[in-house]
Amino acid sequence: MLKKEQNDLLTQTGPGTAAGRLFRSYWMPALLAEELPGNDCPPVRVKLLSERLIAFRDTTGRYGLMDEFCAHRGVSLWFARNEECGLRCPYHGWKYDVTGQCLEVPSEPEASGFAKKITLKSYPLVERGGVLWTYMGDPATAPPLPEWEFITVPPAQTYTSKRFQESNWLQAMEGGIDSSHVSFLHRGDLNSDPLFKGAKGNQYNLNDARPVFEVVESPGGLYIGARRNAEDGKYYWRITQWVMPSFTMIAPRGNHSVHGHFWIPIDDETCWAWSFDYHPVRELTAAERSAMRDGKGIHVRVDTAYRPLANKDNDYLMDRAAQKAGRSFSGIEGIGMQDASLQESMGPIVDRTKENLVSTDNGIIMARHRLLKAVKALVDKGVTPPGVDVEHQKVRSAAIVLPPDQPFKEGAREAMIARPSVAPASV
Ligand code: FES
Ligand SMILES: [Fe+2]
Repeated sequence: MLKKEQNDLLTQTGPGTAAGRLFRSYWMPALLAEELPGNDCPPVRVKLLSERLIAFRDTTGRYGLMDEFCAHRGVSLWFARNEECGLRCPYHGWKYDVTGQCLEVPSEPEASGFAKKITLKSYPLVERGGVLWTYMGDPATAPPLPEWEFITVPPAQTYTSKRFQESNWLQAMEGGIDSSHVSFLHRGDLNSDPLFKGAKGNQYNLNDARPVFEVVESPGGLYIGARRNAEDGKYYWRITQWVMPSFTMIAPRGNHSVHGHFWIPIDDETCWAWSFDYHPVRELTAAERSAMRDGKGIHVRVDTAYRPLANKDNDYLMDRAAQKAGRSFSGIEGIGMQDASLQESMGPIVDRTKENLVSTDNGIIMARHRLLKAVKALVDKGVTPPGVDVEHQKVRSAAIVLPPDQPFKEGAREAMIARPSVAPASV
């Protein structure tokens, strides 16, 4: 449970807000590289942290992300002509480069130097691992580029998708670190989804619906261990990584790829759910890629605007017969939409003053606590928050069977570090 002021503090991320400042400390995924597929391609509208922006790729391949609206009289630059190294507003021809600098005001004499004085607010946009990343904070304190393992392995080993989610970022992220719901919500999919089935760990998941949670602070956020009974008195541990503010990585299953999410606020009532799947030591197969494109595993089938085809306007294509027959626990198809449907059903910003939390919510409780602490330290003292340091990003989730007397933090110490060419710990 949170007080109303705390809930407001963590869920409001627009300009001038405290949690907005937190997000502006990090490189965040802004677009898939496929959205700007070629030089001088059409510009794309992007809304992030309640700011309306335009992204484009110029004649020489440079990426730009800047204020959506022309500095002259506010026309949306989505209508602009993308030509000769800049976006030209179609109303009166003002032209801007990727840094937001105005290059030409055709109605004014060139000698006046008027164009030089006009700039649009802009942010860097950099491609890494098929994702375009932006940093929306103070340029003077820009951190090094991100080094998450899913964007540093060879392209053949990784796949990333995104979908529009109609809820605040925090309740989406809280779903990503809540591994107790797997034994319920996703139970129908563990043995049938092509990206999950066949792993021995699935049986531990299905046989023990009362996981015991142990949550330990990590340099960048939390290690969230969920313990279930295995054979001979041993424990099956699923260790989720959470790195601030909103990177989550779910424990793997068998030799399947490893996956996780980023939850990035569009505004206070919607967010982008980014989903990645990669394997640290092998290429993804054609069958895996096609399953991911087809909305299997944690991915979702979306329209051209990245909105899921199953959405709240069609009641997520709820199948009551499948629910009744037990083929699906919730009646919604696909792991990603099972999560999204329930998180959206809470309303755009869930009222956390009314919750009744239990011991399996410990990861969520500690994550909120760390977020509140980091926001306060940042706002009061300018302390760089956890997760900005690229070393904090080199983490892995893990699934591992350990003797009963061994704490997971020790038994899985090596498994929780991302090391190139080292296979993930998975059951
Ligand atoms: S509004 Fe853009 S040039 Fe006039
Ligand atoms: Fe889930």
